[in-house]
Amino acid sequence: MPDENPLIEVRDLVKHFGSVIALSGVSMKVGRSEVLCLLGDNGAGKSTLIKTLSGVHRLTSGAFLVEGQPITFASPRDALDAGIATVYQDLAMIPLMSVTRNFFMGREPTRGFGPFRFVDFDHCDAVTRDEMRKIGIDIRDPHQAVGTLSGGERQCVAIARAVYFGAKVLILDEPTSALGVAQTSMVLKYIHQVRSKGLGVIFITHNVRHAYAVGDRFTVLNRGKTLGTFTKSEIQIDSLQNLMAGGKELQTLSHELGGTV
Ligand SMILES: Nc1ncnc2c1ncn2[C@@H]1O[C@H](COP(=O)(O)OP(=O)(O)OP(=O)(O)O)[C@@H](O)[C@H]1O
Ligand SMILES: [Mg+2]
Repeated sequence: MPDENPLIEVRDLVKHFGSVIALSGVSMKVGRSEVLCLLGDNGAGKSTLIKTLSGVHRLTSGAFLVEGQPITFASPRDALDAGIATVYQDLAMIPLMSVTRNFFMGREPTRGFGPFRFVDFDHCDAVTRDEMRKIGIDIRDPHQAVGTLSGGERQCVAIARAVYFGAKVLILDEPTSALGVAQTSMVLKYIHQVRSKGLGVIFITHNVRHAYAVGDRFTVLNRGKTLGTFTKSEIQIDSLQNLMAGGKELQTLSHELGGTV
């Protein structure tokens, strides 16, 4: 990873909500062709951190650099314009709208000019079908409602959309938390594919196994602070699990139950 110029870097990031201290000194970075996994227990500050990176929240203090330049986002639109796209698990799609409409979501290209301007739906359908085929999802009818796709397919549509519209950094907030095994592996495979296109990926998850399957580096958050960042060669999956708050409790529980949790 080109350490001199990561795609995104934050140093000593602090975020308060009134008297609540959500982040109290978080540092992390992600480079091109890299999957950074952000791990931490409930309330660790993962969502707050990515909302700060994606322009939803303003930081209280600390440094935020995009490709080496200090930056302040006034809105999520600013972050998107800077190439930072966020895929939230629930808000990714409008279930009753077609796959194509969800893919373009107001960014449909138009043809003609002046009062004769119209959306080129055939082109949109073709692009959607093509982009989905590239990732191994065969959309028979691009007009079918997105709600009829599986959870994993929907996540892939949301990721494909961000990539197609030029994201440099993709932030994924728990993309696999509601998915079964096959669906999870579909999404993880796609994350791996996106990384090889040169994007930086920030993958937030509770699941250490999912993180370990695709991650290059792991940043562990605990109560608003960075506990550490490790490359895959530096840390084993069990130690990573233990580092997350609750890891010890889980081990004890597993011991008490006489198996693995
Ligand atoms: N808008 C807000 N106003 C006040 N407090 C907030 C706000 N958003 C988050 N917090 C607090 O900040 C802390 C971190 O929350 P955050 O949602 O970032 O955690 P998380 O790591 O994403 O947890 P989870 O795994 O449950 O999604 C929590 O104590 C939460 O109550
Ligand atoms: Mg969260």
